Amino acid sequence: PKIIIAGAPASGKGTQCELLKERYGVVHLSTGDILRAAVRDGTPLGAEAKGFMDRGELVPDTVIIGVVKERLAAQDCQEKGWLLDGFPRTKAQAQALESLGVAPSAFVLLNVPDELLVERVVGRRTDPATGKIYHLKYSPPPPEVPEERLVHRSDDTEEKVQVRLRAFHEHCDAVAGCYKDVLVQVDGTAKKEAVFAEIKGAIDAAL
Ligand code: AP5
Ligand code: ZN
Repeated sequence: PKIIIAGAPASGKGTQCELLKERYGVVHLSTGDILRAAVRDGTPLGAEAKGFMDRGELVPDTVIIGVVKERLAAQDCQEKGWLLDGFPRTKAQAQALESLGVAPSAFVLLNVPDELLVERVVGRRTDPATGKIYHLKYSPPPPEVPEERLVHRSDDTEEKVQVRLRAFHEHCDAVAGCYKDVLVQVDGTAKKEAVFAEIKGAIDAAL
C-alpha cells in the first residue's frame, strides 16, 4: 500500500507508523526523522534545515520536496510500498506529489485536540538505539531500556509546540482538501492499539 499519515505534532503519526510498518511491510518515510538525521550527521540538508526546525517552523518546500522525490524513487519504496509520515504538509508539497503521479490509497488524518498534544510532547522520549518512541506516562520504556539513553527532542518544549501547532493549523485544511476521495479521519485520542485497529480497518477496506 501507499499511505499518507497526517496529524498535528505529537498526534501519534510515528507511533502508528511503527505498527503499520510491521503489519504491511512498507517503507516508513518520516520527513522529520530524515531531517533530524541530516542535522545530526551535519549534512548540507541538515545545515539548511536546522534553524527552521529549532524554531519549530516548517523548512522550505523546495528543500523537503527534493528529498521526498528522491526517496520515493528508490527501489525499496517501489517494491514494498510506502508510508509517508509528515509529508505533504503544505498545498505546494501535495501538488508536487501529484505532479510526480504519486497517489496514495489512503490519507489518514489523526485527530487530537491541541490541549492533549502539549502533554504528549513534554513526556515523549525516543530511543536513538532502536528508533522507538515512548511516553513517560502513556507508553513507558521497558525496564531493559536505560532512561539515560533516551532523548527528549529539542523542539519538544511547550513554547515550540505552539509554533508547530500554528503551522499545522495553517495548512491542514488545504492539504486534506487535496485528498478528499481517500481521506480517512481517525480519533487519535484513543489508546494506541485502538487507533491502530481503526487505521488498519480503513486501509484494508481501501486496498
Ligand atoms: P516531525 O518529526 O514530522 O514532527 P511533528 O509533525 O511535529 O510530529 P511529531 O514527530 O512530533 O509527532 P508524531 O505525530 O509522530 O507523534 P508520536 O508518535 O511521536 O517534524 C519535525 C520538524 O521537521 C518540523 O517542525 C519541521 O521543521 C520539519 N519538517 C518535517 N516534515 C516537514 C515537511 N513536510 N515540510 C516542512 N518541514 C518539515 O507521539 C507523540 C507522543 O505521544 C509520544 O510520546 C507517544 O508515545 C505518545 N502517544 C502516541 N500515541 C498515543 C496515544 N494513542 N495515546 C497516548 N499517547 C500516545
Ligand atoms: Zn513523528
